[in-house]
Amino acid sequence: MSQLQIPSSLRPPQDVDTDDCLQDYKYHFNPSILKDCVAFITGGGSGIGFRIAEIFMRHGCHTIIASRNFQRVSEAAKKLVAATGQRCLPLSLDVRQPPAIMAAVDEALREFERIDILINNAAGNFLCPASALSFNAYKTVIDIDTLGTFNTSKVLFEKCFRDHGGVIVNITATLGYRGRALQMHAGTAKAAVDTMTKHLAVEWGPSNVRINSLAPGPISGTEGFRRLGGLEAEEAAHFSTVPLQRAGNKTEIAHSALYLASPLASYVTGTSLVVDGGSWLTSANHFSAIFDQWATEVKKDE
Ligand code: HXC
Ligand code: NAP
Repeated sequence: MSQLQIPSSLRPPQDVDTDDCLQDYKYHFNPSILKDCVAFITGGGSGIGFRIAEIFMRHGCHTIIASRNFQRVSEAAKKLVAATGQRCLPLSLDVRQPPAIMAAVDEALREFERIDILINNAAGNFLCPASALSFNAYKTVIDIDTLGTFNTSKVLFEKCFRDHGGVIVNITATLGYRGRALQMHAGTAKAAVDTMTKHLAVEWGPSNVRINSLAPGPISGTEGFRRLGGLEAEEAAHFSTVPLQRAGNKTEIAHSALYLASPLASYVTGTSLVVDGGSWLTSANHFSAIFDQWATEVKKDE
């Protein structure tokens, strides 16, 4: 069915490829659905995390956006406040360092008094064959993605959620569902997070904490998309094998995160929501294209 035949109310939302706020935004959810909530978003200064922060703020939420690069989160916070009128506190932290997370959460609590939602979005990834991966390269991705998710979840649970409940959304990936070339490090790191989601949902459910994974497919306008050769793939029409025939956009991921964080998902915990246009079911491992992309990156670094 061509886009022209779809009523405008059912068309995918618009997006912009840069880390800027949307110029036009059409509401689908109740604009007050997260009114007066506070969300802590790791990696909220760029890409998917930035758009999640924006969409949450457009729905009444205040945010804390935290990552290593303070300048990046500071500039992002200014844009988010200007576009939404909500409060946004930028903080510097490395999710691999629990004391830094504790200090950041303490500062956030001084500013907002409570935190209701945690989005574990920070991650590191690059293309690399398993045989070329150094021991430290693999450890680095596991440290950021898997341990970083646990570290931040544990700090938020102990400092906030144990007392009054909360919601955690872990941003994962479908890489490990079937095995993906040059992605063993990220695939295993995210698979561990999906399993963590289930364990924590079981243990923390009685404390009224809901935890779910959200697994995006290829999402345009992101660092992940660029690093994994998304633009070239788009030009080479690799998306013709995706059931929905296109890459997704950041607003589509943010809307799914909003659903999971909101009372609309009040009985949803311990599960994974895949938001990939059906991609993982059908997409092939384009070995030569993926190896070419990697070889080009390696040459650039030499
Ligand atoms: C092979 C690499 C590498 C690369 C780094 N390393 N880049 N190995 N190929 N391209 C190795 C280094 O040589 C080093 O090992 C080890 O990894 C640590 O590197 P550092 O640069 O010291 O690490 P650090 O400064 O902590 O940076 C982490 C990082 C970096 C992951 C390497 O790229 C980063 O900060 N990324 C954040 C942004 C990002 O990745 N965004 C995309 C997320 S998208 P040695 O042995 O030399 O010490 C995503 C998509 C998922 O996750 C699914 C998509 C479908
Ligand atoms: P991105 O913009 O690079 O987002 C990653 C963010 O994490 C950055 O803001 C980065 O900021 C932060 N970060 C990285 N390491 C950190 C650390 N050690 N401590 C704290 N913050 C750290 O990439 P993205 O593509 O939007 O990815 C966002 C999420 O979506 C990731 O979890 C990724 O795995 C997932 N995902 C993306 C795609 C896609 O197509 N893009 C597909 C599947 C899954 P600093 O550099 O300032 O620290």
